[in-house]
Amino acid sequence: MLANNNGSTRREFLSVTGGAVAASALVGVSIPHVHAAEDNTLRLALIGCGGRGTGAALDALSVRYGPMKLVAMADVFEDRLSLSHKSLQAQAPDKVDVPDDRKFVGFNAYQNAMECLKPGDIAILTTPLAFRWVHFRNAIQKGLHVFMEKPVTADGPTSVRMLKLAEEASAKNLKVAVGLMSRHSRALQELHARVQNGEIGDIVLMRAYRMTGPVGSAFSEKWPGEPKELLWQIKRFHSFLWASGGCFNDFYIHVIDHCCWMKNAWPVKAQALGGRHYRNSPSGNPYIDQNFDSYSVEYTFGDGAKLLLDGRCVSGVNQIYSSYLHGTQGFAVASKSGDCGLPSSIYLGQSENPAKKTWESKVAPDERNPYANEWNDLVNAIRNDAPYNEAKYGVESSVVCSMGRKAAHTGLEVTFDEMLNSNQEYAPDIDKWTLDSPPPVQSNAAGEYPIPMPGLKGDAEY
Ligand SMILES: NC(=O)c1ccc[n+]([C@@H]2O[C@H](COP(=O)([O-])OP(=O)(O)OC[C@H]3O[C@@H](n4cnc5c(N)ncnc54)[C@H](O)[C@@H]3O)[C@@H](O)[C@H]2O)c1
Repeated sequence: MLANNNGSTRREFLSVTGGAVAASALVGVSIPHVHAAEDNTLRLALIGCGGRGTGAALDALSVRYGPMKLVAMADVFEDRLSLSHKSLQAQAPDKVDVPDDRKFVGFNAYQNAMECLKPGDIAILTTPLAFRWVHFRNAIQKGLHVFMEKPVTADGPTSVRMLKLAEEASAKNLKVAVGLMSRHSRALQELHARVQNGEIGDIVLMRAYRMTGPVGSAFSEKWPGEPKELLWQIKRFHSFLWASGGCFNDFYIHVIDHCCWMKNAWPVKAQALGGRHYRNSPSGNPYIDQNFDSYSVEYTFGDGAKLLLDGRCVSGVNQIYSSYLHGTQGFAVASKSGDCGLPSSIYLGQSENPAKKTWESKVAPDERNPYANEWNDLVNAIRNDAPYNEAKYGVESSVVCSMGRKAAHTGLEVTFDEMLNSNQEYAPDIDKWTLDSPPPVQSNAAGEYPIPMPGLKGDAEY
């Protein structure tokens, strides 16, 4: 195991012994491409080997369009990488070829993993969103196709940067997928076609809900002192707006995105409410994350139509996780439950009245998993060289989330243009970070981080 050059201890990056290489030790060292036999295997590098990254890699290895192989992996924590590798190796033994010298750990690990690929291979970007533009930029420079998870930005400057990168990817004919899997739900695709066909008239109101108990790392108790605070914030990324856009962007984007898709438009402005109610953990310790527990956003479209979004992370109350469209001539259930749960359906009138149902989605069993569909669609486009770039709408959807979040956090109306063109960048110079970089938000003596305070902080979120 090599030491890294950031003056860090091994323990901080490498919490489990294993063979992964500290990536920063390899900067400038040439890493040979995986030897390409004369075949049409698409090679994959996984950057961000957590829950979703492991799932996405498995989906990639399961596509129905030709041979795929995972050849390199990168993470900032070796234990995450090792766990992911073990799981993928067990589930797809013939398609995982990642020896220890193609496992990379550290902030530069992404570069080394992408060096193992050839132009035309695929980089999977599944870290928290703060690193997305850095990794996307590198993939485009290397001529790699990309699958990247949602959301893709949390602030204005990185959104502008990502939109430019999206154009560069298209100019190089690279295929780009964004993990907004609702767009690959066959039921929602048919609903979209029917809505465009006028089956519910003009959409005047949409309602989207994700009201569940606390999820992921949305609530955090104070930093326990290790690993280093920056790495700990990365681990608890749902707690920090710089890392994820908070629970708002990370959890609510799916229902917001597919409603806007149904309307074929982005809202022009948002006003919102939210608050922090129960800020102690069950053991009585204060939660120090930057999230509100509940959010209620009124988005307005250019034609005056509205999208209402209710988001909540509170247990013991109604749990609602679904989305609805109201049109001048009918009503539709978009997601029955969850991000894009089957079935979708259409009704006469304005409610879910079974007697007035005019359509319900029927999806073939092998098309029911939107995570599998998004990979089949991407690889099909690569194999057939069809135009395929989801980055622009991935960015715009992320901007819509950020404007709703910011409207709640500031108590001010926020327009789409104001959000996109805001110069507040939440993780500046993230492409130059080392292990010794200070975290972009600092705690006070009590271990608390700055939180949104509507009315007190002007147009600053925290
Ligand atoms: N589409 C979906 O339904 C869905 C579901 C879950 C998560 N996601 C998205 O996937 C992303 C990851 O979420 P997750 O739940 O897998 O989180 P996770 O914490 O399980 O995984 C993230 C991994 O990235 C690693 N990482 C962090 N910074 C890194 C860096 N700079 N370089 C390399 N590795 C780094 C972490 O150590 C971790 O192993 C998020 O953007 C999330 O919103 C999407």
